[in-house]
Amino acid sequence: MEENNVISMPRIGDPAPEFTAETTQGTIHFPNDYKGSWVILFSHPADFTPVCTTEFMTFATMEEKFAKANCKLVGLSVDSLYSHIAWLRTIKEKIEFKGMKDVEVKFPLIEDITMTVAKKYGMIQPGESSTKAVRAVFFIDPKGTIRTIIYYPLSLGRNFDELYRVLIALQTADAFSVATPADWRPGDDVIVPPAGSCGVAKERMEGKENIKCYDWFFCTKELSEKEINQKIFK
Ligand code: BEZ
Repeated sequence: MEENNVISMPRIGDPAPEFTAETTQGTIHFPNDYKGSWVILFSHPADFTPVCTTEFMTFATMEEKFAKANCKLVGLSVDSLYSHIAWLRTIKEKIEFKGMKDVEVKFPLIEDITMTVAKKYGMIQPGESSTKAVRAVFFIDPKGTIRTIIYYPLSLGRNFDELYRVLIALQTADAFSVATPADWRPGDDVIVPPAGSCGVAKERMEGKENIKCYDWFFCTKELSEKEINQKIFK
């Protein structure tokens, strides 16, 4: 968003800014078409570039895994639809990378030659590039609220295991009213009550089953991967 020459960026907790766009899978109305699903809206700097190619191959290979967690993927760059189609065809027909080959990108890739969407989402960061989007990742929940934003510079390919971890951690926090500690992975202990609530954790929690308190403000409980899977992968 650009108001009075001040560039503002969507923030965590904001409703995802609305737009209609042409994509490799037809027209989309964002975020309305995605209500009821999680969606990751991500930008890449340019088609026919190597880092972006490795990212698309990785994301496309993991699409099914994200879908099982009720999460859809939507890509964007400031290239045209013709460029997108040619690049995705090249990826499928010619590129083999780290055991991935014949990779078909089935999720929509937005054409944004006017940079309208990229500017709305703070994806154009002129200190890095005024003609290409940075590698932005927006996690948007089923109600259309932005829940996490991660930005990477042009030179740095994203870690897709981390993006998946973020998605599952957000869903776990919602489903169980907990927070997740540093480097948390499903099956690790979670934090109760969730971070940000009053610091009365120890007295409320002590003595309860599967709860461990480190101090008055810091208690954890066991939460098995099975319990998480049962709730998230219904
Ligand atoms: C790449 O994806 O390889 C790339 C794109 C833009 C700038 C630098 C690298």
